[in-house]
Amino acid sequence: MKGITGRPGMAAVKKPLRLSEIDTGDDARFSSGYDEFDRVLGGGIVPGSLVLVGGDPGIGKSTLLLQTSIKAAESGKKVLYISGEESLAQIRLRAERIEKTEKDLRFLSEINISEICSLLEHEKPDLCVIDSIQTMYCDDIQGSAGSVSQVRECSQRLMYSAKSENITIFIVGHVTKEGMVAGPRVLEHIVDTVLYFESAESGAYRILRSVKNRFGSTNEIGVFEMTDSGLREVLNPSEYMLEGRPEMATGAAVTCLMEGTRPILVEVQGLVTETQFNLPRRQASGIDYNRLTLLMAVLEKRLGIRCSGLDAYLNIAGGIKATEPAADLAAAAAILSSYRNKVIPSDVVIFGEVGLSGEVRSVSQTSDRIKEAVKLGFRRVICPETSLRGLKQGAFPDIEINGIRNLSELIAYIG
Ligand code: TYD
Ligand code: MG
Repeated sequence: MKGITGRPGMAAVKKPLRLSEIDTGDDARFSSGYDEFDRVLGGGIVPGSLVLVGGDPGIGKSTLLLQTSIKAAESGKKVLYISGEESLAQIRLRAERIEKTEKDLRFLSEINISEICSLLEHEKPDLCVIDSIQTMYCDDIQGSAGSVSQVRECSQRLMYSAKSENITIFIVGHVTKEGMVAGPRVLEHIVDTVLYFESAESGAYRILRSVKNRFGSTNEIGVFEMTDSGLREVLNPSEYMLEGRPEMATGAAVTCLMEGTRPILVEVQGLVTETQFNLPRRQASGIDYNRLTLLMAVLEKRLGIRCSGLDAYLNIAGGIKATEPAADLAAAAAILSSYRNKVIPSDVVIFGEVGLSGEVRSVSQTSDRIKEAVKLGFRRVICPETSLRGLKQGAFPDIEINGIRNLSELIAYIG
């Protein structure tokens, strides 16, 4: 068999259907056993879907999928875990660190994709894990395992099996540096869902992010912690993002970012120092570099701070990336705090977009952000005045809300 030319999953559709006649398969979703994982998938595992889980080697992809396999088996699913990377003994040792199950979870060490596909056809499991796509090999294709053509062909065959047998297949793909080995990008367009498992710069926290999802939104993230006995889900990420926050430190401000439907509080850290060179240094991590240069320019022009003589560093603690401008105001506050050597009280949450004329512009989901601040025990919110228009009077009795219009007003509030 050379390549797959058929159209998997299409055979049954013979006549055009009305929207109401089409089965979305949504009620057939089953849980991965972890709320954090389910949310990223768009509300659970869709039967017959092909999901790529990419990430750096050693990040915890095998652990995540092994744990999910155990949970799925526990809930009565038939699960097959196929590894081309580790021996069965190694898998057993890993599983024993986590949790054992006597349910229908079986393991196989195999790299030949034709063998795997005929096994799938024969066994028809509900869930199958292929760990990893870079170790899989197809006899009909030239090139060694892990090459672009091998990775592509193997994934296409798995796609065919997933659709024709209605098997959910999770494919592990290592993110690799450019070279002989093809990374997950090669198969992003073949699969239904692409997830990336990333580490939060340092420490044990892991973030599962969706970058493509035919069955859900791509904004959601799941947060996990790697422990001695496998991955543990972190159900309240704000708490861990703010863990170990220094008391009474200058250059720190807490903001609230929306990650999909979920508000997450994070600490923005700013540091400014006299520059030693002709050209001031700017460094940003977790926040767009251009946003930092823009903020520095606005601070110079609107507040008269001589930023061109200052090096500036901006960082979001905890490994979250600010992809929305709502972090601007807290970033400006952190820089101002460092510049003026004045501590921002630790019970304040600051969010809002900063415009070029120093105006503070409204952001979406204000009440969700304020709710999260209340939940975590914060006493004061500084946010765009325009965002407050939609809020009900007295909706938040436990927190003081200060709506501001521009950066000068920010100074008045943070001292
Ligand atoms: P692994 O799932 O093998 O990563 P990947 O499949 O993405 O390459 O995870 C490997 C790392 O996780 C390894 O450094 C050991 C660590 N780990 C723990 O800290 N606790 C555990 O319970 C397990 C199983 C692994
Ligand atoms: Mg692995």
